[in-house]
Amino acid sequence: MSAFIRALRLVNFRNYADATAILSPGLNIVVGDNAQGKTNLLEAISFTATGSSPRTPNDPEAVRWGQDFARTEMRVVLDGDGSEGEERKVAVGYAPGQKKRLSVDGAPAQSLAHYAAGGAGVRVVTFFPDDIRIVKGAPSDRREFLDALLSSLRPAYSRAIAEYAKAVGQRNQLLRRIRDGFSSEKTLATWDRKVVQLGSEVLRGRERAVGPLGELFGEAVRTLYGPEKAAIAYSYSATLEGYAEALREAHRADTERGNTSVGPHRDDFAVLFGGVSMTTYGSQGQQRLATLALKFAAREYLRGETGRDPVLLFDDVMSELDEERRGYLSGYFLQSTQAVISTTNLEYFDEEVLERARVLRISGGAISDATRGGAGRAARERGTA
Ligand SMILES: Nc1ncnc2c1ncn2[C@@H]1O[C@H](COP(=O)(O)OP(=O)(O)OP(=O)(O)O)[C@@H](O)[C@H]1O
Ligand SMILES: [Mg+2]
Repeated sequence: MSAFIRALRLVNFRNYADATAILSPGLNIVVGDNAQGKTNLLEAISFTATGSSPRTPNDPEAVRWGQDFARTEMRVVLDGDGSEGEERKVAVGYAPGQKKRLSVDGAPAQSLAHYAAGGAGVRVVTFFPDDIRIVKGAPSDRREFLDALLSSLRPAYSRAIAEYAKAVGQRNQLLRRIRDGFSSEKTLATWDRKVVQLGSEVLRGRERAVGPLGELFGEAVRTLYGPEKAAIAYSYSATLEGYAEALREAHRADTERGNTSVGPHRDDFAVLFGGVSMTTYGSQGQQRLATLALKFAAREYLRGETGRDPVLLFDDVMSELDEERRGYLSGYFLQSTQAVISTTNLEYFDEEVLERARVLRISGGAISDATRGGAGRAARERGTA
């Protein structure tokens, strides 16, 4: 069995002053009215597992209003069977203006990249309603999805992405200086080399992933949506082999624009149902299902690459689905190593599903256990509640 999260504590995180959530393996349902803290709780789990918020790059937003720091802690059971197994304690502390502190069993984490790529003991796959922009939105939204997935797999990828972005920024500055007559074109070659070297690392990472990911996406669409043949098609602004040359060929145009026009920061992928682009032609429901299918594919991909099931954090996923699909998802979550799902309405779940799930009720930033069935009893007997 794979790792799962046993408990989470939030201090000054969003609307939580100080709250603790006990979680079970399998399905955990977070229920509450609007604006009580459901999304914030899922965000906190992801924040603690990866060291960053999945919703905002702006850490100060997560600090409870009027407070000067936020801290979250988690107990992770590594390869346990639910009652035993080695436990890891991880924590993320953040005070605006200071460096974020990540710790694993009391010792500072090696790096954010390392912590985010499994260093915390669990990987997560998140779904927030706004993620529909991966399908519907701009190429940058789709690239971000790929990059986040690959960064959660390997620290080297996230470092390459960050360094590549920096190198492109510096090349752009140089392009403007050349355009304005402050530098000569000869200086460009050095930056081209650097950009190609880092960009190739990014491209190689993506190239390895998109094939299998596309297969898994096709399978997920078949189960979620229908027999339509679904695929993702990566489009290169420059392929790996032609990269250096494409960049050279773009010198003139790039200098005029002051901008780097080829490389992985300009790539995109198409999300296709039956050959039709869901970005351009998808209905709201198709776009939502395609987004879900991408997340399922991400989960399977991580599972295949690491041998471990990531924890699923799905926010308000049931609300726009029909009954049959809700039933399918309930089963999917029950069978996963661990899933934390939020909803405003428990009626989206069958009685027998509720019997087997842990239920957490959220009200004004307070968490209470509302488990009714066997899962709660069993957990209490095991002493995890
Ligand atoms: N930094 C913060 N400090 C304090 N409160 C915050 C902070 N950030 C967000 N909030 C508040 O937390 C409350 C709960 O937000 P959250 O998004 O978790 O609600 P929710 O339970 O998911 O509701 P919904 O069902 O509408 O999605 C909101 O009223 C929001 O304004
Ligand atoms: Mg919400």
